[in-house]
Amino acid sequence: MKLPIYSPVIKILKEGQLDDYIYLLVKNQLKKKPTSVFIFPTGATPLGLYQKLVAGFQKKEISFAKTSIINLDEYYPISRQNPASYFAYMKQNLIDKIDIDPKNWIIPSGEAKNLRSEIKRLKNLIYKKLPADLTILGIGPQKTCHIGFNEKGSILTSTIRYVSLAAQTIKANSRYFKNKNQMPKGAITLGIKEILASKKIILIAKGQQKAWGIKRSLLGKIDSQAPASFLRYHPQVIFLLDKKASKLLR
Ligand code: PGA
Repeated sequence: MKLPIYSPVIKILKEGQLDDYIYLLVKNQLKKKPTSVFIFPTGATPLGLYQKLVAGFQKKEISFAKTSIINLDEYYPISRQNPASYFAYMKQNLIDKIDIDPKNWIIPSGEAKNLRSEIKRLKNLIYKKLPADLTILGIGPQKTCHIGFNEKGSILTSTIRYVSLAAQTIKANSRYFKNKNQMPKGAITLGIKEILASKKIILIAKGQQKAWGIKRSLLGKIDSQAPASFLRYHPQVIFLLDKKASKLLR
């Protein structure tokens, strides 16, 4: 079956404006539907957004009391005590600083003993919440073009699963680990299918190390060699870019 292809909206903004813009989108979503389900990423890219969400909550502009947050991915295996785990990242940057009901925050467990039961647990919890109202994504560095941890080779119909991380991803992310050898070689990630089920998707990319992947995903072939290119099968996608990340589009 041939799927329709859409052109994502591309917005190029200055770094500060970019975080303000996405903050407004999240704020409007929360206003329109306080019970919204979000899929959120980790990494360096969304830190500015999370600071704004925390500030917005403190100023009583927004509340997450009825909201659900699903995390895109987590390293596997990793202890939740490890400051480089996405569990620790989310608690430190967002979850502990807002009013979300802890049972409405879903994140893969990097410490689950049995991977198969963890995937089953996640599917049970997440499929009750999907489709997400709004999914926010980053994109992998250099030529990975990953979304979540859907590395090259991920197929359109891929679902929540364990994945081996690409060598470029390991190289880029090992900087977050005290000892580089501690960096896990695998992860649990939502699949392309669960991401594309979202009502709206925003991909944020900042910096020159994202420029190649942005061009490949927006202008190249739609295929597993660039998992972010699958976003062109979705009618409601915004690519929110800073100047550096958009450099090769001109
Ligand atoms: P970054 O990671 O925000 O730290 O660049 C993005 C990603 O790997 O998806």
